Amino acid sequence: MKTHKTRGVGLLGCGTVGAALVALLAERADVIEARTGLRLEIVRVAVRDTARDRGLGLDPSVFTDDPAAVIADPGVDLVVEVMGGVEPTRRYVLDALDAGKPVVTANKELIAAAGAELFAAAETAGVDLLFEAAVAGGIPLVRPLRESLLGEPISRVMGIVNGTTNFILTKMTEEGAPYAEVLAEAQALGYAEADPAADVEGLDAAAKCAIIASIAFGVEVTSAQVPAEGITAVRAVDIRFAARKGYVIKLLAVAERLADGAVSARVHPVLVPETHPLAAVRDSFNAVFVEGAAVGQLMFYGRGAGGGPTASAVLGDLVDAGVNQARGHHATVGTLRPAVVAPPDQLTSEYYISLGVTDRPGVLATVAGVFGDHGVSILSMEQEEPDPDDGAPRPQLLFITHAAADRDVRATLDALAELDVVERVGSVMRVLGED
Ligand code: NAP
Ligand code: HSE
Repeated sequence: MKTHKTRGVGLLGCGTVGAALVALLAERADVIEARTGLRLEIVRVAVRDTARDRGLGLDPSVFTDDPAAVIADPGVDLVVEVMGGVEPTRRYVLDALDAGKPVVTANKELIAAAGAELFAAAETAGVDLLFEAAVAGGIPLVRPLRESLLGEPISRVMGIVNGTTNFILTKMTEEGAPYAEVLAEAQALGYAEADPAADVEGLDAAAKCAIIASIAFGVEVTSAQVPAEGITAVRAVDIRFAARKGYVIKLLAVAERLADGAVSARVHPVLVPETHPLAAVRDSFNAVFVEGAAVGQLMFYGRGAGGGPTASAVLGDLVDAGVNQARGHHATVGTLRPAVVAPPDQLTSEYYISLGVTDRPGVLATVAGVFGDHGVSILSMEQEEPDPDDGAPRPQLLFITHAAADRDVRATLDALAELDVVERVGSVMRVLGED
C-alpha cells in the first residue's frame, strides 16, 4: 500500500542496468527508508518484451511495452530512464519533466546529444534531472565535478571512461588475447553497449567526454563536437612497442581548457607512461584524472560498466531525487555558456607513429628526412620484423617524436604516405608527456 512516505518509481527499460536496479532496490529499500524516511517502490516498468519472465520478483502487471504509460501513471512519482538511445527517449524524458516528474538517467548518449534542452526543461519544471550513472558508471564523478569542484579552476580532465575498451586493451596487453574474442567476453559480461561499435569506435567515450567537458568547464559541448577515434586500429605491434618503451596504451577521453580559453575535447588511444596513475587502471575499471590549479591532481577510480555499479549510481540519484522532491528542491547544472571548441590541429603532443616500409638501404634516412623537413623531431626509433598475422606484411619502423604541433605531424604523415618506400602509414597515437 502506498503511504505518504512512499515514492512510486517508474522504469523506462529493464535490461542490464534496470534489472540490477530492481535487485539493488529490493536489498536497500529498508535502509533507504530508515535513513531518509522515503520508501521507494517500483510500480511500473516499460520493456520491449513484456512476455519474458525476468525473474525479478515484480508483479507481471507492472510491465508494459509503452513508455508513455509509465510516465502518465499517477502512481509514478519518479522516472528512471535506462532504455538507452536518443529518440524516442528524449521525447519520453521531456514528457516526464513536463509532467513535473524528476528523471534519473544512465543515458550518456542522450545527455551528450540533448543535455542543454533537457536541463532547461528540468529547470522550467523545477525538478531534478540526474545523470551520475551516465559517466564512469558506479564512480561518483558528476556530482563532485558539478558541486564539490565548482570553485576549482579545472585545467584538464583525462579519463578512461569506457569499460569495454579498457577490458579489451588489458587482455590484449597482458594475455596477448585476440581482439574479437575479448570483445565477445566484454559483451557477455554486460559491459558493452547494445551496438558495441559505440564502445570500440570511441563514440560512447566521446559522449561521456562531452558531458565531462560541459560540467567541468560550465560550457555546452555536445558529442558531435568531440572527435573520436577508437581502438579498432590498435595492433599487437603497437602494444609491444609501447611496453618496451615503458608505456601502456589506453583509450582516453580528454577535456582541457587551452590558454586562449577555448575547450578541447577528444577521444583517442594514448601511450600512457607506466608511471602515470591511469596506466594502472585495468580490466573494465574506469578512472578519471582531474587537474586543477588549487586542488592539484585528483583521481576517481572504480567500476565504470556493468549492471551492479551502474545501478548503484542510479539508486544514489534516485534517493536524491526523492528527497529533493519531498523538500521541494532540485539540483541544477547551472548555466552552460556556448563553448569555443578548439580544433585538434591547435594541439601539441608527442606522437607514436608506425610505418610499414620497404627493407632496403637508405629507407631510414629518407623517412627521417621527411620528419626533419616538417620540423618534427624524432625522440626514438625501432625496427620490427614483418608480422603478417598482425596486418604488418612489411618491416615496421616505429617512432616516438618529441612534442610537435598536430598540424606539422599531419603534414609529415601526408608526405610520408607519398614516399614509394612507405608501404603504409600504420598507427598514429598521441603520447602522454610527463607535464
Ligand atoms: P539494455 O540491457 O539493452 O536494456 C535496455 C532496456 O530497455 C531493455 O529492458 C529493453 O526492453 C528496454 N527498451 C529499449 N527500447 C525500448 C522501447 N522503445 N520501449 C520499451 N522498452 C524499451 O541496456 P543497458 O545496458 O541496461 O543500458 C541502459 C542505459 O544505461 C543505456 O543508455 C546505456 O548507455 C546506459 N549505461 C549502461 C551501462 C552498462 O554497463 N550496461 C553503464 C552505464 C550506462 P527488453 O528487455 O524487452 O529488450
Ligand atoms: N558500454 C559502456 C562501457 C557502459 O563499456 O563503459 C558504461 O557506460
